[in-house]
Amino acid sequence: MSNNYQKVKFFSGENIPLELHKARIVQKLFLVPIERRLEALKEGGFNTFGLQTTDIFLDMITDSGTNAMSDNQLAAMMRADDAYAGSQSYVRMQKAVEDVLGKKYLLPAHQGRAAENILACAYVKKGSVIPMNYHFTTTLAHITQYGGGIEELLYDEAYVINSSHPFKGNMNLEKLEDCIKRHSAANIPFIRMEASTNLIGGQPFSVENLRAVRAIADKYNIRLVLDASLMGENAWLVKQREPEFHHTGMADIIRTMTNLADIVYFSARKLSSSRGGGICTNDLKVYKELEPLVPLFEGFLTYGGMSVREIEAIAVGLYETWDENMICQSPQYIEYLVNSAVAKGVPMVTPPGVLGAHVNARGICSHIPKTQYIAGAFAAAFFLISGVRGMERGSLSNQRDEYGNETFADMELLRLAVPRRVFTLSQIKYVVDRLDWLTQNSRLIGGLKFVYEPPVLRFFMGRLEPIGDWPQKLIAKFKEDFGDSL
Ligand SMILES: Cc1ncc(COP(=O)(O)O)c(C=O)c1O
Repeated sequence: MSNNYQKVKFFSGENIPLELHKARIVQKLFLVPIERRLEALKEGGFNTFGLQTTDIFLDMITDSGTNAMSDNQLAAMMRADDAYAGSQSYVRMQKAVEDVLGKKYLLPAHQGRAAENILACAYVKKGSVIPMNYHFTTTLAHITQYGGGIEELLYDEAYVINSSHPFKGNMNLEKLEDCIKRHSAANIPFIRMEASTNLIGGQPFSVENLRAVRAIADKYNIRLVLDASLMGENAWLVKQREPEFHHTGMADIIRTMTNLADIVYFSARKLSSSRGGGICTNDLKVYKELEPLVPLFEGFLTYGGMSVREIEAIAVGLYETWDENMICQSPQYIEYLVNSAVAKGVPMVTPPGVLGAHVNARGICSHIPKTQYIAGAFAAAFFLISGVRGMERGSLSNQRDEYGNETFADMELLRLAVPRRVFTLSQIKYVVDRLDWLTQNSRLIGGLKFVYEPPVLRFFMGRLEPIGDWPQKLIAKFKEDFGDSL
C-alpha cells in the first residue's frame, strides 16, 4: 500500500482532485422525472429518510455503510471464519485495532450507536454530565436515555458558518474547566471528543487541542473518550492544517490521537468502509466493566452482532485508513464541491470539512420561520429539483427538551455526504449546478410541518407535509427553466 499522497498538478492550472482508483463494479442509477420525485416525497413524508433508492439519483444522505469497499476488503470477506466463538476473523480485527488504534482490548458492537449504548449504560446515571466538543444525535439520545445530560463546549468560531478557522471542532478549554468546576468531577464520568463534528459541518479538532483536553482530564482524573468514527479524515486534515504534522504519516497521526484517549469507540460503517463498530481501550479495568454488556446487548464477545464477513472487511479497512491516496479522496471532493458552490454564491459551511459538504439552508431560506424546519424543507426541495438525497442537519435532527419544547439547532444545514470513492466529478458538478439553481429560486421554497412525530430520534421516522403548494410552484419554475430535462 502506498503511503505517499500523490499530488497531481494540471498543466491548465485547474485544481482538480484526480482519482487514484478505478471503478470495476458499478451500480446503475436512475434519474426519475420531477413529477415522480414529488410523488416519492409524498410517499416518504417529505423526509429524505423515507425515500426509496429506486427514486434517488445521487444518494448523499450519509457515508455510513456507503463508502466504496476495496478489492482487498471484498477478498478478505471470502475467507471469513464462521464461528460463534473463537472466530479467527475476530482475531484479525483485534490485531488491526491494536495496530491502527493502538488499543489491545476490543469490545465489538454492531455499530457506533451500540458502542454508545454500552458506554452510557456502564457510566451514565441520573445527574451525570458529559462535556463534549459537540453532540451527535445517537450519542445524546443514549446519554439522556440513562438520565444524563451534556454540555457542548466549542469556541465561538465553531458557530461561524463562513470561516477560515482550520479546527472548528476544537474543545473550548476554559469552558471545559469551568464545566468541571460547576458540576464537580464526580458527576462527570467521561469527557467526549468527537473527531470532526458531524452535525455542524464535519469540522476537525487539532492534536494540540486534544493534548490540552488530555491534560485537563488528567488534572481532574476524568476519563477521556474519543469518538473515532470520522478519525481517518480528521487525521488527514491534521496533516494538512497542523504544521507539526505536515510530514507525519497517517499511521502516526492516528496513533498520536488515539494514544491520548482512555477509551476509543467507532462506527466501522464510517471509519473502515464496512459495517460494524467497537470500543477499545488499554485499561483492563474499563474492559472488565464493559465486557458483560456485550453479550447482553450485542452478541458473543467474538462477533458483537456483526457478521464475520464484515469483521474481515473492518480489519482490512482499518489498515486502509493509513493510505493517504484513499483517505484524501472524500475531503478533496468535498473541498471541490464547497469551493465550486461558494464561487456560484451558494452559502456553504467553510472551511470544507469531512464527511460531506454542508449547505447553509438558513442563509438561503431566511424567509422560512424557524418553527417550519428550514433545513428539512431545503432538503426536500433539493431532492425535488435534482434527485439528490441529502440529510437535514438542523432543528428536525434535534430532540425536544424535557418539557416537550422545540430546541432550535445552532445551524440549519443540508448535509450532502460524499462517501469515499463513490461519486464521479461530473456528478459533483451536477450537484453544484442544481444547488446554484435552487439558491437562485429559493423564494419559492416554503416550510414543513409534522404529521407524525416519533418521540425518539424523530428525524429518522418522522413524517411531514409542506405548508402551502410550494413544491408545485418549484416544479413549474423548473419546467420553465429546464424544459424537458430531467
Ligand atoms: C461521529 C459519529 N458518532 C457515532 C455515530 C453512530 O454510528 P452508527 O451509525 O454506526 O450507529 C455516527 C454515525 O453517523 C457518527 O458520525
